[in-house]
Amino acid sequence: MLTKFKETADFLKSKIDKQPEIAIILGSGLGGLGNKLKNQTAIPYENIPNFPVSTVEGHSGQLIFGELGGKNVVAMQGRFHYYEGYNMKEVTFPVRVMKFLGATKLIVSNAAGGMNPKYKQGDLMIINDHINNFPEHPLHGKNFKELGTRFPDMSNVYNKEYIKIAENLAKNIDITVHQGIYIGSSGPTLETPAEYRLFRIFGADATGMSTVPEVIAAHHQGMKVFGMSVITNVSKPENPEDETTHEEVQDVAGSVEPKLTAIIEGLIERM
Ligand code: HPA
Repeated sequence: MLTKFKETADFLKSKIDKQPEIAIILGSGLGGLGNKLKNQTAIPYENIPNFPVSTVEGHSGQLIFGELGGKNVVAMQGRFHYYEGYNMKEVTFPVRVMKFLGATKLIVSNAAGGMNPKYKQGDLMIINDHINNFPEHPLHGKNFKELGTRFPDMSNVYNKEYIKIAENLAKNIDITVHQGIYIGSSGPTLETPAEYRLFRIFGADATGMSTVPEVIAAHHQGMKVFGMSVITNVSKPENPEDETTHEEVQDVAGSVEPKLTAIIEGLIERM
């Protein structure tokens, strides 16, 4: 495992001249930020040794190195989801590699369904905590102490200083953001009305099919984490006739993306 991370990182290092400080994962319909990187080098996943290959419609798969907000960053345009059939070691492989490349901070974005009754379609939510509802754990199995500790404490995963910066930025540029708890589930089904209700009772504000595994791996490796969800649909337990399609999720994510990008860019400048 460790040799694979190193082998992949060494390959990528041979393609770039500056080590990235910040890693970014761009969620469904949110890949546009990748195009804003200056002096960019894009490497398709299929050309990267040991990388899994993304298959789902709407998830272009490439790693983009470049500059944003005056920092050297590496962005994943497209991620690996558990529902695609990858195991958790594969889902978290790129995060492991980005740390091996020198990234000490992770910014992660996703499309999510909102359960908090105050949330509306198209809102943004800063993730301040998560619930891991996946059936497999990314740290299952042998622990490599070179990566991190066997039993990571999870009390402070989402960096409070970054949350404060993002809140202030949103206020200054007149963007409404919520702060809330993200619950990650395997998918690919969206939730039944009863499941949305259950997740709300659990204390979650939004739900999606990603983020939690990558955040666990990043935290295990000592990376500082910031996460943000675009609320692409809201649960309507009383109105189950109003269904949600993947196209709708992508369209809403795409239309909100400029706001998300503005906050992420501002945060990177201040990190
Ligand atoms: N549930 C799970 N994942 C999602 C949703 C949802 O309602 N919306 C976007 N991703």
